[in-house]
Amino acid sequence: MSEKIKALKAEISAAKAKTQEELEAYRLKFISRKSVLGDLFADIKNIAPEDRKAFGQEVNEVKQLAEEKFKELITGLESADTGSKSSAPVDLTLPPNINLGTVHPLTYIHNRIVEIFQKIGFNVADGPEIEDDFHNFTALNFPENHPAREMQDTFFIESNPDIALRTHTSSVQIRIMENQKPPFRTLAPGRVFRNEAISARAHCFFHQVEGFFVDKNVGLVDLKQTLYYFAKELFGQDTKVRFRPSYFPFTEPSAEMDISCNICKGKGCNICKYSGWVEILGSGMIDPNVLENCGIDSEEYTGFAFGMGIERIAMLKFQVNDLRLYSENDVRFLNQFKHLS
Ligand code: PHE
Repeated sequence: MSEKIKALKAEISAAKAKTQEELEAYRLKFISRKSVLGDLFADIKNIAPEDRKAFGQEVNEVKQLAEEKFKELITGLESADTGSKSSAPVDLTLPPNINLGTVHPLTYIHNRIVEIFQKIGFNVADGPEIEDDFHNFTALNFPENHPAREMQDTFFIESNPDIALRTHTSSVQIRIMENQKPPFRTLAPGRVFRNEAISARAHCFFHQVEGFFVDKNVGLVDLKQTLYYFAKELFGQDTKVRFRPSYFPFTEPSAEMDISCNICKGKGCNICKYSGWVEILGSGMIDPNVLENCGIDSEEYTGFAFGMGIERIAMLKFQVNDLRLYSENDVRFLNQFKHLS
């Protein structure tokens, strides 16, 4: 008899109910009045009187075990049920709930500048960030050992002093002009590198946009008018500009362009250092030597060029006061440009 009880206990312990039907089958077999346990209780009368008490106890144990197992099976089935209820039907037509990033302020300014110049017929060119001395300096009229090379602290490759990280996008001018025929109306945006200590106002890498226009009869008036149009498009129609004489080895004459401070509208603030003006770019008429270095007849063709820092323009446009913020990937900074996306 106890063999039978052992087998029952094992069967109860191993019982599983994955569906309501299986639970009901278990209930009928072990819990209901017609269960196998009912049969066992009915057997009591066939047991010798001295063994009845022990037998009764064993049967009761099985009953308890069966009831505990029943509760366990019910809770198991319920939690499986709620699990399937909480995964609500999936609507595949809904857009995915992904936290999308925002456009980086430098990307925004880059795109705006390209857009503005494309409207007046400029195309966009690209060039290598690792440059040779010829394209970064020599062809741009930087004489050998001339102090002008030190205007831009350069990262040279140690094993080959002829190779450097480009210090400006003017190198792209050379690459385009030596390989193609004028006229040119080209914009060259890209990353540049300078060996500077990183601070709020300087970084070892930043971005520039170079522009150059070469054709017959291009004069200073074209340069001024083009840049005036650009400043008004980017900073607003009431923006004023002024040109200050400057020096670059590759342009003659050279000028830096200031715009009326877009923050205080020229009244004076700490961004424009109370002058009412902020510098935004360098420019000039391309030096005839540069054209000749690229095989362009400087008697026939003239041109102008300009270069500006994207970080600086973005600083003025968005009043960012620390250059480092652009490359730190701090979402508290980046989230402030959500409206641009
Ligand atoms: N390449 C110059 C710089 O990095 C900017 C510039 C470009 C000036 C073209 C004049 C003409 O400072």
